[in-house]
Amino acid sequence: MKYGFFDDAAREYVIHTPQTPLPWINYLGSEAFFSLISNTAGGYSFYKDARLRRITRYRYNNVPADGGGRMYYICDGDAVWNPGYLPCKTPLDRYACRHGLGYTVFEAAKNGLSAGLTCFVPLGVSCEVNRLTLRNDSPAAKTVTLFSAMEWCLWDAVDDSSNFQRNLNIAEVEVDNGVLYHKTEYRERRDHYAFFGVNREVNGFDTDRDAFLGAMNGWDSPEAVTLRQSGNTVAHGGAPMAGHMFKLLLAPGEQKSCVFVLGYVENERDRKFDAPGVINKEKARAMLEKFATDEKVELALGELAAYWDALLGRFQVSSPDDKLDRMVNIWNQYQCMVTFNMSRSASYYESGIGRGMGFRDSCQDLLGFVHLIPERARERVLDIAAIQREDGSTWHQYQPLTKRGNAGAGWGFNDDPLWLVACVSAYIRETGDDGILREPVAFDNAPGTEAPLFEHLRRSIHYTLANRGPHGLPLIGRADWNDCLNLNCFSEEPGESFQTCANYESGVAESVFIAGMFVLYGREYAELCRRFGRPEEAFEVLARVADMERAIVEHGWDGAWFVRAYDAFGQKVGSKECEEGQIYIEPQGLCAMARIGLEQGYPRKALDSVKARLTTPYGTCLLAPCYSVYHKELGEVSSYPPGFKENGSIFCHNNPWISIGEALNGNEEEAFAVYRRTCPAYLEDISEIHRTEPYVYSQTIAGAASPKFGQARNSWLTGTAAWTFVNASQYILGIRPEFDGLSIDPRLPASIETFSATRLYRGVKYVITVKNSGSGDYTLFADGSLVEGNVVTAAKGAGEVSVLVTR
Ligand code: BGC
Repeated sequence: MKYGFFDDAAREYVIHTPQTPLPWINYLGSEAFFSLISNTAGGYSFYKDARLRRITRYRYNNVPADGGGRMYYICDGDAVWNPGYLPCKTPLDRYACRHGLGYTVFEAAKNGLSAGLTCFVPLGVSCEVNRLTLRNDSPAAKTVTLFSAMEWCLWDAVDDSSNFQRNLNIAEVEVDNGVLYHKTEYRERRDHYAFFGVNREVNGFDTDRDAFLGAMNGWDSPEAVTLRQSGNTVAHGGAPMAGHMFKLLLAPGEQKSCVFVLGYVENERDRKFDAPGVINKEKARAMLEKFATDEKVELALGELAAYWDALLGRFQVSSPDDKLDRMVNIWNQYQCMVTFNMSRSASYYESGIGRGMGFRDSCQDLLGFVHLIPERARERVLDIAAIQREDGSTWHQYQPLTKRGNAGAGWGFNDDPLWLVACVSAYIRETGDDGILREPVAFDNAPGTEAPLFEHLRRSIHYTLANRGPHGLPLIGRADWNDCLNLNCFSEEPGESFQTCANYESGVAESVFIAGMFVLYGREYAELCRRFGRPEEAFEVLARVADMERAIVEHGWDGAWFVRAYDAFGQKVGSKECEEGQIYIEPQGLCAMARIGLEQGYPRKALDSVKARLTTPYGTCLLAPCYSVYHKELGEVSSYPPGFKENGSIFCHNNPWISIGEALNGNEEEAFAVYRRTCPAYLEDISEIHRTEPYVYSQTIAGAASPKFGQARNSWLTGTAAWTFVNASQYILGIRPEFDGLSIDPRLPASIETFSATRLYRGVKYVITVKNSGSGDYTLFADGSLVEGNVVTAAKGAGEVSVLVTR
């Protein structure tokens, strides 16, 4: 069942009912001011950091989940309705929500009155603009009472939802000519305030939530709206809000618009006040002026569209498969940008008060956005590297506002350091900017400890080498990519975090996954050394990589697939010897990508085992059989009911590893089949089962062992976005950045006989045509000349290169 459709020409997903199985959301903002917006106009806004600088309030675990956000109440006769359906839930005569690139539009109508609400965060300005247009489509004049409403958060989202003894006493607002200012704590240590203004004269306002709602009412029936009269209230403590009231007379056919601006302002310390207690509003007024007319709003929307055109224009494909095209061209790249902005911090499932930026998460996210924003990617690489510690280990997370490691999450997740190699090498392959290797970066952000980025990579590699167990395989530490495989934790304390509780430093628990990673990215590091002035080190590291390969072949092979790990007692995890959890996806993916044990045919055998034991119509499960009881020697993985999360769901993030493995090991049909099974555009028809948005990837899909088989959870902020884009663009379509140029080596199913693509690479536009009418190697011509091998050497300067690829 579908709840909408893809409008590819407009690059929108159009939802035609507000009753989607879950809130289907979009993200507004691309620099510092961000908002989440659902298909009922719910969501919240923040500046840079969803935890530390939250602007509007969101209630966790609330029902319905989709409360709050931007509320516009349209009172027309007896009817009161909202253009996004919630919170009043008044049935609408017409409803559409168009989620586009950086904007969302609602089109609604009732009783001959139509409403259009366009929401976006303009480029370069810290605000969200909401333009609401009302049109009288009836033959009689209408007097409409319109209310706007939103609720302020008291900045720190954790404190806001917990520290009531303080925060019920601190709220302060100012009202100035219809502009409602939120200035809580501005009197003391904050130099920032927020405001909600509008370009039309108001007939009333409210800033005191309890007065606006009245006792016992929720946002679905505010007393002021029922009475059609706002109270002109000024909040002192309690819960501050911002809401306007307008009386609008609309002649038949007449249309009126209001442009609302929810803005955020920072002032210099010595220019905070205009008069004692009166805040300096200069910047707010300038911001309001920027969006004071419909024309100015149109202009800003045009700039936003041009920004996205330019970004997505860097990689475009045209193939016979419209679903592949719409994911690659629009939604997958868009989701990669959202993971750049949000990491795992703020979604409808990531509360914005928990995780900041994950080290491994951000490194992997970069693989998906580096081609879109190479300059900003450079800064991200350096920020990430600066939370590495001197011994090569890394903090597991950092806060985007402070860019310091999060003490709460600690370090000791032993895969983390190696992801830095993956990310730096992807950056250099894309940009050719090897100068980044010489960039000084501090350890743990401590001034005076700066060393070239190259040295950080060296420490990553040596961290793995220095931390190996009895089989010569890397020690797992607190966990590896699978945050829930906690082999040293043995937790028996309810509620204790599996990741950060006291570890038993067994010195024994080893990860075959990290071993596979070491082979893959150790080779990558050696290549960096070979190319950029450290030939001896390259030689040395390759020898260590060979040791690791041997260790895997000797101790990490289980007969038909790769073992997952050794536990703290030296017992195998993910082996036929185990009762449950006999096979895990992760080492099969990584080791097949690294082609470990090629001579013995291991990659092929492992992939065949994955097909036979883990593959379902909805994707490839993380492990099988699922754990039916809690194993304290394994940790969180066995804490989930079978089929959920790490205990055997289809964990979408690692499915591309299998697809890439298949592509590299000779099964192009299966590579594409793996890609399709989890790709949301192909799942649109089963949205009632899948439930999350059909335009973006989710973290998991419940596995075959779950009664909810096929149900996706935790959409948007997942490493799946980056890895599926890497898979689709670099392996299936085969357009892959190398150090010297662009290699073109597609791995296509027979159903895709031809495609064309454009790829902006180091300033040059490559126009690529692929004809796939056989098997084996491709022949390449660049601007008419035969290319030796499959790498088109990076052209100098700007301009265009046309590449013909045939087989
Ligand atoms: C985390 C990742 C982790 C994955 C698997 C996600 O929630 O963000 O860092 O690799 O779970 O456990």
